[in-house]
Formats: sequence, structure tokens, C-alpha cells
Amino acid sequence: MERFTVNEIEMACLDRGLGMPVVLVHGFPLDQTMWESQIEALGGEFRVIAPDLRGYGESELGEVDPADGVTMERYADDLNAMLDAMEITEPIVLCGFSMGGYILWQFVQKYGERIRALILCDTKASADTDDAKKMRLKMANHIDEWGTEKVAQAMKPKLFAEATLEERPEIVERMISVIHRTNPQAIAAAQRGMAARPDMSELLRELLCPVLVIVGEEDVLTSPAEMEFIAGQIPGSLLQRVPEAGHMAPVEQPEIVTAAMQNFLRQIR
Ligand code: MLT
Repeated sequence: MERFTVNEIEMACLDRGLGMPVVLVHGFPLDQTMWESQIEALGGEFRVIAPDLRGYGESELGEVDPADGVTMERYADDLNAMLDAMEITEPIVLCGFSMGGYILWQFVQKYGERIRALILCDTKASADTDDAKKMRLKMANHIDEWGTEKVAQAMKPKLFAEATLEERPEIVERMISVIHRTNPQAIAAAQRGMAARPDMSELLRELLCPVLVIVGEEDVLTSPAEMEFIAGQIPGSLLQRVPEAGHMAPVEQPEIVTAAMQNFLRQIR
């Protein structure tokens, strides 16, 4: 892992391969290791950059506003500063998974000139419902008493397809162990930030770059219907549905997700 000082934190980032930069942004409450298969496969052809977001994996959390947490915009600012620190000036392909997608919208809005293409993976453009916001704030407010154990147990049934839960416990356990070792304060901060995120649906029609949309067919957190809506709004976008995958499509069906990314990236390089 490389380390860069950005926006007063030390940010860790995996940087593998040469060529067109492809930045993989992980989801909540995970770290860059969720992209292991994609990094391995794509790193031979492209420059794959997989950061740990502020507070996750090996990156520091830094100062956090107790009320606002870490906004999606602030994570996007970190990514921009990290690219500056890496002296990357050529256009990047930005890939966001779930919360990584919420961050991607902010990055596009603020630093759109850096973008060559986008990959949207199991994410959404809509804001939270009032009930969803309440659940997030409940977790944030109770994080000290809940600990990561309870967070992992609450999330587990929503992250995976039934077949993954029943037949491939090693995949489930790998992701659950990442949640267990995540800094609880980073979890609380991200929940506050996600609760406050705006609806970005208006941005979709304005996206003129190549866009690949990927969704697990059994995703209950960011549903295929939601991703179909996104793909339908973005002119010329491609949609890859992933069978026998839930929310964690990139780890549940790595071959299908990686092949879709690889084909897309080869077409645009
Ligand atoms: C994620 O995978 O990043 C989260 O499930 C996103 C969310 O909680 O909305």
C-alpha cells in the first residue's frame, strides 16, 4: 500500500499496474480488499488505484464533526487530493460501489474534468427515505454500545444472495471480518454522512461519458429496479445484471463483474 498525506490525514491506497487509471471506491463499512479479484485481473492491463477511504482499512479518520460525520463530498475531496498527491493528470475511470457510488456523484459534480468514464456498481442516485435516515442515525448514536459485531450481524442478511449465504460461507466470512475490524467511529461518521446525502437523480441525464452499470440480480439494498432506472436515465450507458449475486456482486460473482469491467475498459482505452 502507498501512503499519502491528504487533507490532514494519512490515506492508504493500493496502486497496481500501468496504463489508464481506474479508481475503485469501496462501500460501507468495508475497505479496498473488497476489490481483490478485480485488482488482480485488471492490474495486468490498467493502472488500478484502490484507496481505503477516510477511517477505513489503513487510512486515518481524522477530525470528524459530531453532527455531520463525514459527508460524501468530503470523501470525494479526499479522492481528488489523493490523485493530486499521486500526480495523476490523465483522465480516470471512476468506479464506485454502493457508498462509493454516492461519493462518485459528488466527485463528478465537483471534479468532472478528471473523468474519462464511470462504473456504477450496486449503488443508487436517490437520497434516503426518512425511515432509512432514522436507522442510520440510530446506528451512529449507538455505535459505542453496539460495536462492529452488531453492525455486521445487522448487515449480513442484506449483503448477499441466498445462495452465497448458504453455499459460500468463506465469501461471507471474509466480508464480515472486514466489518469487524472497521473503526466504529468511521461507521458512525459515514452513517451521518450518508443520511445527509442529496438526491442526485438530476445529474444522470447530464452524464455524457461512457458509463457501465452493474447490479446483482438479488441486491436488496440497491435494487436492480433502481439500477435499471439509473441506466435508463444515462444516455448510452451499458447495464450488466449479475445472476446469483446480491449487493456484494463484485465478491459474490467476481468473474462476471470483472469480465464486464474488462470489456468496458478495453473498449474505451
Ligand atoms: C454500502 O454497501 O456501501 C452501503 O450498504 C450503502 C448504504 O448503506 O446505503
